[in-house]
Amino acid sequence: MNNKKLLDLLNKQYNFEIESAYIYKAMSLWAAKENWSGVANFFHQQALEEMFHASKLENYLLDIGYCVKLTKISEPKAEYSSLLEVFKDAFDHEKQVTANFVEIMKEAKEVPDYKTEIQAQWFLTEQVEEEATFDDLIATLERISDSPAGLFQFDAELAQRKFSPEA
Ligand code: FEO
Repeated sequence: MNNKKLLDLLNKQYNFEIESAYIYKAMSLWAAKENWSGVANFFHQQALEEMFHASKLENYLLDIGYCVKLTKISEPKAEYSSLLEVFKDAFDHEKQVTANFVEIMKEAKEVPDYKTEIQAQWFLTEQVEEEATFDDLIATLERISDSPAGLFQFDAELAQRKFSPEA
């Protein structure tokens, strides 16, 4: 496979996954500073998951003989006004990831490149879950925003998350 446009899109997404990890790590650090230790854990685990996604793309690109390139990462947002803002930003970010893979899928179909289509399909399936997770968490937060006990429980539940590549 030597379609330059498609390879460059994959390399761009590889970097975007690393940038995602960086953004989620910044969210984790903000939550830790605000004493939401469960939320801090949730975003730390999310950052680990994004690095796993980057590794998956890296392995694919290396396997097909592409010279993987790292690009500059912008400084992530470090301050948030509320938990709701953090989760809404994360949801928007995931929607962008989905849009990126839709573009990769469209290009792979046009080439055509069936191997890359299979890769894009894996990520698009993953995106259904990623978006649903943030959508659910935002709905919960909106429901409990005035309840200290509810927020305490929300934080405690997110403390349980542990990323595993096998899951
Ligand atoms: Fe790797 Fe959350 O998308």
